[in-house]
Order: sequence, then structure tokens, then C-alpha cells
Amino acid sequence: MNLDCALHIGRIMDGKVKLALVGAGMFGGDVHLRAYADLQRSGISPQLGRVGLDQWSRDLAPVQFELVAIAARTENSARRSAEDFKNRTGQLPRAYFGETPWIDLLRDIPDLDVLAVATPDHLHTQVILAGLNAGAHVLTEKPMCLEIQEADRIIETAAKKDRIVAVDMHKRYDPDHLRIAADIKQRIGDPLYGVACLEEPLEVSTSTFKWAAQSDPFSYVGPHWVDLFCHYYRSKPVALSAIGQKKRLLRQGIDAYDAVQVRVDFDNGMSIHFHNNWITPPDFEGPVNQGHEIVGTDGKVESDQQYRGFRWWNQGGGSRTANNHFTREVSRPDGSRAYVGYGVDSLIVGLVAICRMKFSGSSRSEIAAIYPTAEEARIVVGIVHAARLVRDLNFKYLREGKGAPVTARFGTDGITVVDPNNAGKVFHRIYEKPF
Ligand SMILES: NC(=O)c1ccc[n+]([C@@H]2O[C@H](COP(=O)([O-])OP(=O)(O)OC[C@H]3O[C@@H](n4cnc5c(N)ncnc54)[C@H](O)[C@@H]3O)[C@@H](O)[C@H]2O)c1
Repeated sequence: MNLDCALHIGRIMDGKVKLALVGAGMFGGDVHLRAYADLQRSGISPQLGRVGLDQWSRDLAPVQFELVAIAARTENSARRSAEDFKNRTGQLPRAYFGETPWIDLLRDIPDLDVLAVATPDHLHTQVILAGLNAGAHVLTEKPMCLEIQEADRIIETAAKKDRIVAVDMHKRYDPDHLRIAADIKQRIGDPLYGVACLEEPLEVSTSTFKWAAQSDPFSYVGPHWVDLFCHYYRSKPVALSAIGQKKRLLRQGIDAYDAVQVRVDFDNGMSIHFHNNWITPPDFEGPVNQGHEIVGTDGKVESDQQYRGFRWWNQGGGSRTANNHFTREVSRPDGSRAYVGYGVDSLIVGLVAICRMKFSGSSRSEIAAIYPTAEEARIVVGIVHAARLVRDLNFKYLREGKGAPVTARFGTDGITVVDPNNAGKVFHRIYEKPF
């Protein structure tokens, strides 16, 4: 064994990755927390074949992971999640709470490796920037942020601090989508048009989220599918149109969009419709309704993510479906349960990249291909940002009987909202840098 190799192995054997989680609600308190509990128990290697990174499983097997802190807005939520983690692992993370709990957390734990961000959509940027400025890598929920200018600040700060921002874009790791990306996409020829839908339960917008009015169905779940199409075709948007409806949630006093529809035209010529809502009644058989289709010059692919042929019904329980690919529990001989699925996979790829940087000296550019980067998320954020502005103007004009003529244009001159009803300023540049 040469000295280089010995040093390399020595570093890995001693390795520990300290994580902290900010936001422990429906998603952070469930998927993130359980994924980190399994990492703490068994390391990262058991997960690597699923995402095609198993060539590093021996190197990374000795790396220990420790969730050292959990932060939420309320004390109750932070302590409950920390206790839940203790029940799964035997170790109690420190609990932080309040309006900006990440500030104390980052001050108290200066050697933190990874800050995981699962706060509400409008509360990602300040947490991400604080994490980067404190020297931590960041694993953030989608959407990375809601404004294109914020995306630039995140990217600049990550570059300056030489840290990774990995974005949870799990649709890429759905086994059906991995097959489309690696194979089917080539068979169906040049993409012409497509449609993607994600329809969330009414419970999310009316009960789970206290922040529904600060987001909307496209900003919340549209990024999943937008990222997937950008990822499949490495294509950029050139134009979009968007509309939304407000009827159902208004009935419950919530001033938020029920549904949003966005059409994005890409520079490879494909036109994709994204349909999202969060008003699906509880009678629906699955947790969410979702799927996508692409028509190409030589074929078509359909991927129903909701009904994959798995359905059951029982007295009093209605007819139900489940998406076992997203996350599922697998019983261990000791009675505990391992947690696997593409919902976990997309967190794992970011952590592999972070481990490669920390333990193997890889540069950010060397590992950028193995996880959803902030640069890729910037494209999604640009679309979400423009769609929000276009949709609001079209919503207003529809109510005034002036049609829905507003669109946005993307190009080397930035992002421009085109509003034919505004005779004084038809072209409104919202972003000046090349897109
Ligand atoms: N990848 C996915 O499939 C997926 C699914 C659901 C949600 N998400 C994303 O995850 C994020 C969180 O969503 P959720 O469903 O868990 O929402 P949620 O409302 O259930 O939970 C939000 C969490 O953030 C915490 N929080 C709120 N304000 C805070 C503050 N000021 N400081 C610290 N913590 C604060 C709350 O205490 C709570 O723990 C959102 O960005 C959402 O879009 C992703």
C-alpha cells in the first residue's frame, strides 16, 4: 500500500458527518428524519447501488453519520422530532426552536458538515445562506428558493465558500424515470410535447401547511416535474404562459390558488404542460395523483406515478393505492424497519457528493454530475418565479374581462414578462442576466 492510499483510507476510517435538520414538519420530520436515522444506524453504503454510486460503497462504509440537532418553529415540534429520532437511534439530537433557530444552532455547532433545510417554501434562502456562511454544506428541499435573484445569491455564496448545495429532486430517482432517462427517451425520438400533473390532497393546503397563502401549487410541487424535464433533455426554457384559479380554498377563507397550469416551451422545441393543484378531496384513492407523458417523433412514454397496478380495498377503508417506490419500510430481523425509496435516494446522492468532498478531496466540479445542483435548480426557480408573475397578471385580467394574454420570455437577455394589456410597458424585464 502506498502512503497516499494509506492516508486516504485513514481519513475515511475516522470519518464522521455531522448533520442538522431545520424544519421538522410533514416532510422534514418524516422523510429526512428517518433517512438520517438509517444513516446513523448503518451508514450510507447500503443505499448506493440504488443510485448507481456503488463504486464508492467500500470507501464510504466506515463513515459515521450523526444528526446532532433539529430545529423547528415551536418547541413542541422540535422536541417531539428529537425524541422520535432518539427512539429510532438511541441518540437525542439537540432541539432548537423559534423564528430563527438556525442562528443559535450554527453558532453552537461550528463544525457542522451538513445543514438540511426543510422549512416552508418561502423560508429556504435565509437558512441556506446562513448554513453556507457558517461553512456547512446544504441539502435543501425544493424549490431551492422562490426568486431567481435569490438563486444567484445562493450559487455565488456556495462558490465563494466552496460548499455544495444539493437540492432534493427525487423524481430523477424514481426507477421508472431512471429507465426513461437511460433508455426510453432515446426510443421515442425528439420530444414534441408532454404533460405532467401532480395533484395534492386538500388537507395539505387547508390543514398541514400554515403557509399555503405564501406559496401555490406550482411553486410547491411544480419544481419536481420541471426539474425532471430539464434533467431528461438538458434543455432550457424559452417561453411560458400560466394561469390559476381561486375558488375552493376561498370557501375556507384561504386566499391561495386552488390550481395552477403552466405551459413551458423549451429550446429543443418541446412544449410541456404542468398541471398542479392541492384541493384533491380525501375520497381519492391515493396519497397524491401524479404522472407524466411525453410524445416524441417516434413514440410515446406514459408514466403513471399514482396507480402502478397496486390497489386494495377493505370494509370501511375504501379503495386505496400506494406508491411503494417513493418510500417504503422493509422489516429487519430485529423488528425495526429500514426506510428505502427514491424519496431517500435523492438525499443520499447529495450526501455522497459531500462525503466525496470531505473525505476524498474531490472538487465541486468533479462531483457536480452526481446530484441535483443549485445551478440546475436555478433554471427551475426562474420558471417558478416567472410563472408566478404571469399567472397573477392573467388572473387579474381574466377577472377584468381582458383575457389571459401575459407570457414570459427567457433568453440571453434575461427573463422578460410580456404583457400586451399594459400599453405603457409591454415588455418588463424581471432579470437582467443570461438565462
Ligand atoms: N421532496 C418532497 O417530496 C417534498 C414533499 C413535501 C414537502 N416538501 C418541501 O419541504 C419543505 C417543508 O414542507 P413540509 O411539508 O414539511 O411543511 P410543514 O409545514 O409540514 O413543516 C414545516 C416545518 O418548518 C418549520 N418551520 C416553520 N417556520 C420555521 C422557522 N422560522 N424556523 C425554523 N423552522 C420553521 C415548522 O416548525 C415545521 O417543522 C417545503 O419546502 C416543501 O415544499 C418536499
